[in-house]
Amino acid sequence: MRYLASLLLFNALFSYANAADKPSRKVVKLPGMMQEQLLANMRDHLLAMQEIQLALGAAQFDTAATLAEQRLGMSSRIAHDASRMAAYMPKDMQVAATQMHQAASEFAKIAQDSALQGDVKPAVRALANITAQCVACHRSYCVE
Ligand code: HEC
Repeated sequence: MRYLASLLLFNALFSYANAADKPSRKVVKLPGMMQEQLLANMRDHLLAMQEIQLALGAAQFDTAATLAEQRLGMSSRIAHDASRMAAYMPKDMQVAATQMHQAASEFAKIAQDSALQGDVKPAVRALANITAQCVACHRSYCVE
């Protein structure tokens, strides 16, 4: 009985996840090279998040701040060729990208404050706010 119940629950969750995921994503068409570049940038975003978490875990707040600003923040936009990429993105997606860069720059400031105050909690909350921007864009867009 318990097995059946968990099977039903699993099914319900799985179909919910599918329903929530698929139909709502907008397909953004990018020329092949740019698509590859976007995905390479994305993989670096994920690596940067890992490195930031490691730095925070070691109370290396300045390192966490620098990583966030240079790899994800407003300063990273030139390296990511953001303005050329933006030409292919719907307006709302450009806004989502800017919000992620802003959230990362905001994290960098908060992480530096954490260094002075010795309290990691505000930095962890600000890090979750960067992740929220990744989640929001992924929920809405995919590339082709
Ligand atoms: C402005 C929109 C946007 C933001 C913000 C964004 N992404 Fe993405 N990301 C995408 C799109 C679009 C794809 C392609 C998804 C698809 O086609 O299914 C993608 C794909 C990825 C992939 C898969 C890469 C691959 O090789 O397939 C990773 C990893 C990723 N993103 C990480 C992140 C992380 C981490 C963040 C936040 C720090 C982030 N992204 C923020 C739009 C975004």
